[in-house]
Amino acid sequence: MTAATSPATNRTDLKPVLVFDSGIGGLTVLREARVLMPERGFIYVADDAGFPYGGWEEGALQERIIALFARLLAEQAPELCIIACNTAFTLAGAALREAFPDMTFVGTVPAIKPAAERTRSGLVSVLATPGTVKRAYTRDLIQSFASQCHVRLVGSENLARMAEAYIRGEPVSEEAVKAEILPCFIEKDGRRTDIVVLACTHYPFMANLFRKYAPWPVDWLDPAEAIARQARRLVPFVRDALQHPEDQDFAIFTSGNPDFATRRLMQGFGLRA
Ligand code: DGL
Repeated sequence: MTAATSPATNRTDLKPVLVFDSGIGGLTVLREARVLMPERGFIYVADDAGFPYGGWEEGALQERIIALFARLLAEQAPELCIIACNTAFTLAGAALREAFPDMTFVGTVPAIKPAAERTRSGLVSVLATPGTVKRAYTRDLIQSFASQCHVRLVGSENLARMAEAYIRGEPVSEEAVKAEILPCFIEKDGRRTDIVVLACTHYPFMANLFRKYAPWPVDWLDPAEAIARQARRLVPFVRDALQHPEDQDFAIFTSGNPDFATRRLMQGFGLRA
């Protein structure tokens, strides 16, 4: 799809882009999206009252997300929504598009297709929340794009919470990180896993630790830039628009009460919270 071009516009006329996640993971996508859409304001929404999404019962989580978006779209009127959460989008992406046909949703799904195209050993692992690992959507991606590969799905109970703690500056132990990532590393017939798909937007925040504690080097695939590029393609490009001042961007927390460390983190990303 090609983006429409409108005449020169005052930046205050431009609708913002809404970036959604269960917690702070979507910030990994926000930082890429900002680079590509400097003329747009951003609203970051964290459903921290529902975090973590990984262990939710599917029907209840889908209902929650749809109800939340009914409110968000009415109150914020964004140009486009980026669902920067694999756990949410693999479950509720189709339902969101059906419930709100006038809104454009850009989704996040496990990067299984690019991993299958790039692997040399044919051994790929997908590190995700327990919710994403059990989704029919994820199984379909493997069947459609990676049937020639050996794909190991690794559902982590703890990593999203650990990433939240780590990014807030709390210590995270080497043993705890290793326990979560080691199941991704497989040796089979003289071949070894060479790609691990980071299929939860929280995980790229810990990629430096993953690299450090990995038993051998692999490519840690982070889809944030590809998601941002897809959003850029769909957000109308406005010729001569000025750069949007970052200090007008803000974050919404469904708890209504993010802690001090989280607020400081948001400020670091140029978001009022
Ligand atoms: N960041 C979310 C994802 O991409 C999941 C975190 C969670 O709520 O468990 O899947």
